[in-house]
This record gives sequence, C-alpha cells and structure tokens, in this order.
Amino acid sequence: MRSLVSLTEHEIGATVATLKASGLSFAQIGKRLGISKQKAHRLMHKYGGGKQPTMHVIDEIGTPAEVLQRHNLNPAEWRAVRFSEWEAQAKHGKIKTLTSTRFERIDPAAEAMQQIAWQVRPRKPFTTLPAQQHALVVPDSQIGYSRSLSEQLTPYHDRQALDVCLQAAKLLGDKLAFIYFCGDMLDCAESTRKFSKPASTQRTMWPAMLEWRWLLEQFRIAAPHALLCWAEGNHEGRIRRTLVDSVPELADLPPADDPDGSPLLSMQRMMGLDSIDVQYLGPYGSKAGELHRWGIRFHHGDKVGKAGATAGKYLNERTSQIYGHVHRMEQAWSTKPGADGQPVDIFSATFGCTCHTDGRVPSNKPHHNWQQGMGILTRCSDGWVEPTPVRIRAGGRATVLGTELCGSDYVERLRAETNYPY
Ligand SMILES: [Fe+2]
Ligand SMILES: [Fe+2]
Repeated sequence: MRSLVSLTEHEIGATVATLKASGLSFAQIGKRLGISKQKAHRLMHKYGGGKQPTMHVIDEIGTPAEVLQRHNLNPAEWRAVRFSEWEAQAKHGKIKTLTSTRFERIDPAAEAMQQIAWQVRPRKPFTTLPAQQHALVVPDSQIGYSRSLSEQLTPYHDRQALDVCLQAAKLLGDKLAFIYFCGDMLDCAESTRKFSKPASTQRTMWPAMLEWRWLLEQFRIAAPHALLCWAEGNHEGRIRRTLVDSVPELADLPPADDPDGSPLLSMQRMMGLDSIDVQYLGPYGSKAGELHRWGIRFHHGDKVGKAGATAGKYLNERTSQIYGHVHRMEQAWSTKPGADGQPVDIFSATFGCTCHTDGRVPSNKPHHNWQQGMGILTRCSDGWVEPTPVRIRAGGRATVLGTELCGSDYVERLRAETNYPY
C-alpha cells in the first residue's frame, strides 16, 4: 500500500533498510511501499545504511497492527496517536472500509518526564519560635543552559554554589525562619523580547523549570519550618511579559474549576509551588513582588551602579533593603533620624549571585565583575537584625557562621529524580 503522506526519499530509504533487515526481498518491500523494487534498492543504498527509520511520524493506510508490521516497528517505540476509518466505493458497486493510522515515535526523555513523582511537602509549623532566628538570602541563580549541537546542556547556574546554599539552610536548622530567593532564579533566556535568542537557548525552559522545582523541593526538605519566598526578577518577568503582550485575556485567568486559585499560567501553578509551600512574589517591580520582614524591604531591585556603588543608591529610604540583580556583593550603612528624632540605623545589602561568573551567562558585557555569595540574617532577641554576607569561593566553598561548607554537583541525583537527561 502506498503511504498517505509523501515521505522524503531519505525516510523511505531508512524504511526499506528496516524491512530488508526483517528478511523481505526488495520486490516485497517495493510492493508494500508502493514503489518499484529498483527504487527500493536504490534508496536503501543511498540513504538507508541499514539504520532504523529516522522519521518520527508515520501516517499511513492500515490498522495500527498493519502499519507496525509493514515497517517492522517496535510497538514499545511507537504510539498510535490517530486512527480513522471511512467507507469507499469498491469494484462492482461494493462498499469497502478503509483505515489509516498515524504513529509518533515515543521520545524516551519526554516519557520519563511524565513519570516524575513530585511529592506534596507542606511547610511544618514551628513548635516554639527560637529567641534568635536566621534568614537565608539566595541571590540570582539565572538557571538556564546553553544547548550544544549534540544536545548537551551547559548550565549558566553554578550547582556547587546552589548546593552550598542548601547546606547552609540545613545548618541553620530550626532557627531558620525564612529563605528569600532574590529573583532571576530562572534566566528565561528563551523568552526574552529584548535581546536576540541564539539557537543554543532553544528548548531550555523545561529543563530549567524542572531543575529549579527540584531544588526548591530540596530547600523545603532542608528547611521544613521556614517560609520560602521566591521574588520575581526581571528575568522571570519575561514569562509574564510574553503572556501579557501575547494573550492578555488569558494571562490572569484561573482555571474554571479553581476560581480562587492562582492563574493557570502563573509561575505559582506552572512550577507546582503550592505542593511545597513556596510563595511566588510578583509581578517584578510591583508592591506584590516585595517581602517586608523584620523591618526590611526585600525586593529584586532595578538599580545597577559601578562596582561597590549600588548599595549607596539603596540608602534612599528609612527602611533597610535587601535586593539582588547586580550579581555583586555590596553592603552599606546609614544612620538617619527616625520619626522621634532618635538616630536609626539602616542598611542596604546585596549578596552576589549563584550563577557562574566566567562570562557564560548572557549579558551585555564580555567580562563580568560578579561575585558568588549568599546572605545570612540574624535576628537577635532584642530585635536587631545583623546582615552577614557569605562569599562562595571557587569549588562551592563557604564559611557559614564559622562552619566550613563545600557544595557538590548534584547533577546525578537530579537526573535520577527528574528523569531528564541533564
Ligand atoms: Fe535582575
Ligand atoms: Fe540577575
């Protein structure tokens, strides 16, 4: 029988090779595919090379069993996605029923992704609040990848740096009141509307979402009592901007069966954050994108000055501020008169980044003067909040409140637990 769609000669050649390997003669193969035996012979030698068919979709006349048998396809590797039948006029006025089947090759990576067993891990309440508490600030990880021609993913983010932050969360234990993820945790290079998007950024959103979701779950396990807040940075904001610009009528709609829930296309829902009690604070640049705790305003930030100069720009309020965005470690203090005229200390601090600093993260500068780091805040029993910047050194090493930690590359576990071929 002849194929309903015209396959390329390359695809026919590969199919002939498969049928030949099953023991059929060129004459039999030609008859099945509706081509001459000479053409079957020629195409196999030109394109087949004895390899498996290279096409990913087959749409042909016949039942699923007939099409599978015709191409000698392994049913475990192909899935029938459309089957149709219709009546046609045959000889002598008879009616005959014809069938056609469309098969798609099963993508093992895509199949595996559907088998991820995410677990529901709600936050556990503190039994007693310790007099002295900590907060952990994890700055810009820019999770994303450069995809090579051979499909290898080179991460923008530094897994050892992120792992050492995870270790810090474990170390702070029951004293850890909250973790603030500063924004730009996802790079979203594929979704920029402003900069060019090289081919290496394509199909990187899904692995980035999986990896960040997996990491957030590890933070939830490490800090079961802590409030986990992820602020939207300008990079995650690309997703929202794309939605609002392209489909404004859908951008904020909740699903019909959960009208009080988060919008269907929100990061909260796309990342499955409810099941691990992570709050997404957005949109970027809005009041809803901020966190106010311990008398400090936490936000992603939008100012960038020369090295060491941005912190001074954030001493412009009566409130201390913690922000991200600049990828450098800076801290500044100012003493101003409070409402009662008494001097009040405020600080501004930013704790660097957890992405690679060797120039691989897309930016508009060829050389980066960034530093990797994290921040630990200590709230003393009298209410004083002490900000402590922690530099992450080469190899994921960090000294957290006097304890030496060293992050490790978690990619093996990540692969095993998400089934994604990182
Ligand atoms: Fe940013
Ligand atoms: Fe950033």
